Amino acid sequence: MEWWREAVFYEIYVRSFQDSNGDGIGDLPGIIDRLDYLNDGTPRSLGVDALWLTPINPSPMFDFGYDVSDYRDIDPLFGSLTDFDRLLAEAHRRNIRIILDLVPNHTSHLHPWFQASRRSRTDPKRNWYFWHDASPEGGYPNNWVSSFGGPAWTVDQTSGQYYLHSFLAEQPDLNYRNPEVVRAMEDIIRFWLDRGVDGFRVDVIHKMIKDAQLRDNPRPAPEEDHPIRHYGGLKHVYDEDQPEVHDIIRSWRRILDSYGERAMVGEVFLFDPARVAAFYGNGHDELPLAFNFSFLWSPWDAAAFREQVDSIESVLPAGAQPTYVLSSHDAPRHRTRFDDPLWGEARARVAAMMLLTLRGTPFLYYGEEIGMHDVVIPTDRVCDPVGKRFPAVGRDPERTPMQWGAAPGAGFTTAAEPWLPLAPDYRSVHVAQQTADPGSPLSFYRRLIWYRKQSAALRRGTYHALDGPPDTFLFLREHGDERLFIALNFAGEPRRVLLSRLGQGHIELTTNPDRKEVPIALGKFDLGPVEGLIVALQ
Ligand code: GLC
Repeated sequence: MEWWREAVFYEIYVRSFQDSNGDGIGDLPGIIDRLDYLNDGTPRSLGVDALWLTPINPSPMFDFGYDVSDYRDIDPLFGSLTDFDRLLAEAHRRNIRIILDLVPNHTSHLHPWFQASRRSRTDPKRNWYFWHDASPEGGYPNNWVSSFGGPAWTVDQTSGQYYLHSFLAEQPDLNYRNPEVVRAMEDIIRFWLDRGVDGFRVDVIHKMIKDAQLRDNPRPAPEEDHPIRHYGGLKHVYDEDQPEVHDIIRSWRRILDSYGERAMVGEVFLFDPARVAAFYGNGHDELPLAFNFSFLWSPWDAAAFREQVDSIESVLPAGAQPTYVLSSHDAPRHRTRFDDPLWGEARARVAAMMLLTLRGTPFLYYGEEIGMHDVVIPTDRVCDPVGKRFPAVGRDPERTPMQWGAAPGAGFTTAAEPWLPLAPDYRSVHVAQQTADPGSPLSFYRRLIWYRKQSAALRRGTYHALDGPPDTFLFLREHGDERLFIALNFAGEPRRVLLSRLGQGHIELTTNPDRKEVPIALGKFDLGPVEGLIVALQ
């Protein structure tokens, strides 16, 4: 069984995890210091199997590393290649794998490739990016828009031509219809695989190839598209998800496979399950994993979660499995999204139980295990370029420093001010306190993750949803003799479950610190308000 099918991944937003040199910004030596927290091989640690590090390559940080100016080095803010090698060795010593964030769709405008490309219309690197004259009417070459707002084209004074950028003007898009670009990125992939990394998270992989004729996108955005994809009021037909992207992914998969088992998880920001599923190819020849982001925009509703799970399950090719996330560096944290004056913490536990018991590869986001909330950022401290343009959807609130302890700096930094403000609750919500408390969110995550490790049914079993009362999500996970029944109650009131054919069971794990783990008769039993149970069936 490939390791990435059974692993629990943990996303580290590197700037915010652990600062080791007192500059207020997280770094690689800081991560090394925290590896034992992540997994020291015993249930005293969180127990995650793999880390995804957000971009650590040199970058002018217009989009905090998602604008790379050198793909083969480490930004001095985060450390050096030597630090990276040490991190990899220390992680591997603990059986923790590391995947890097690969940002192939665009470079920084300061990358030497773009510097050369913009120099003149005849530069050998000109065709590495998209350069175009103004439209015949004198406007932008087409109607495409940037995901961060405004037109996707910026005019360059040197040549008078426009260049394309799907994000900031400081993030020009590479042209993957040019085989030289394809080869250059493959060399970069090999560079890091040779160094020993366990794989990649690939940034906006669905955007890598655009329509060969750069045709206008149709207007308006149709209702059937997810609202998050309505940006610019367009239907995004021609600026992404073109068939040729699959040739590139197949070639990358061959490279990965030639190194043994290496992982690749694609950020396929498309929402339509069938389109996401296409990125798995035949289940073995394209992406090993593709993110399913639907939970990030889901209401707190059992039927909605079940619907999302069943719809991705129904379209995946044989041999493929989903990849779920509750929180990430691009969306409000789920502790905040699903908050409720009475049931906020209970909901977060139910959500965690769902994430870690579904069939699929779960990705945690740093801090969710201690119940970190989004933080309101004062206007003069906003860093995210999206937040500067559209304050309501800025991404700083979910990127604040990890809360390790109650000391000033939260154990994250010794600097007077970290790069983003600490959460106002950091003196009471932190790792040190929760480690000692068996009823804490952290202890709950640890038990869940370590339980998952010894359960083949959770790691690789089949998934089968069952009908139940309103506000419940009930499913079976089965592998060989092991049969687990998972019952999740999303309502703030008890639910009676009647399941005549399941027989007897024994509660293995519950989200409710007060409930005893005892045998239960499954014919008829009560779930407490906002409660989850894992029941081993006899
Ligand atoms: C992805 C990243 C996001 C970044 C964008 C541009 O969506 O997750 O953080 O801003 O790509 O690279």
